[in-house]
Amino acid sequence: MSAAERTGCFIALEGGEGVGKSTQVCLLAEALTARGKQVVVSREPGGTPGAEAIRELLLHPPGKGWTAEAEALLFAAARADHVARLIRPTLEKGIWVVCDRFVDSSRAYQGGAGGLGDPAIRALHDFGSDGLRPDCTILLEVDEARLAERLSARDGSASDAIGGRSADYHRAVAQSFRRLAGADPQGFRIVDGMGTPFEVHERILEALEPWLAAANGGLK
Ligand code: TYD
Repeated sequence: MSAAERTGCFIALEGGEGVGKSTQVCLLAEALTARGKQVVVSREPGGTPGAEAIRELLLHPPGKGWTAEAEALLFAAARADHVARLIRPTLEKGIWVVCDRFVDSSRAYQGGAGGLGDPAIRALHDFGSDGLRPDCTILLEVDEARLAERLSARDGSASDAIGGRSADYHRAVAQSFRRLAGADPQGFRIVDGMGTPFEVHERILEALEPWLAAANGGLK
């Protein structure tokens, strides 16, 4: 399904740990609804019963935990189910999808910080989800000091297997996101995540203006 064949708009919010994505996903969905759009909110890993079950395996792995390759495959499997059973059918009905994380999280975490490389993650996504891309990926960024503050505030007590990785791993995630966004200025909008939730929300709406304008013009 190409972007031209679907009618709903697909927006993903990305970023490292604790940049405020979940709050922004809710605020964005409310704003879109207020503008008369039908909106479905989802998240990754998760969004369907199968993908939510895989989420539990990923964030709270049994035994010794997954190898890097197994982890990437599980994220891709969860995403394949989510795309086939929820995201594509929703977009085909003309409904907007706002998703808390999507494939660029796999590219930044498993491909970049995890060392598997971008071609491997893209190949899994091509196979699992026919390479579906969001119409726009919003990358929420906070500065280094804020990232360090948030990572140290966790004090080693992060509740899941990925959030609990080292500060170096999370710094590498942030760098990978920045690289991905820099290499694809059409597909990404980098939004400053510093400030109040409302200030950040206003920046996100501004970044999405071209898609909102296209929708108002009857294109979506
Ligand atoms: P979540 O509790 O949703 O984290 P956050 O609130 O920071 O979004 O947990 C998702 C975790 O999974 C988070 O640490 C990022 C990680 N993740 C990956 O490593 N690869 C992926 O493809 C996705 C979607 C998430």
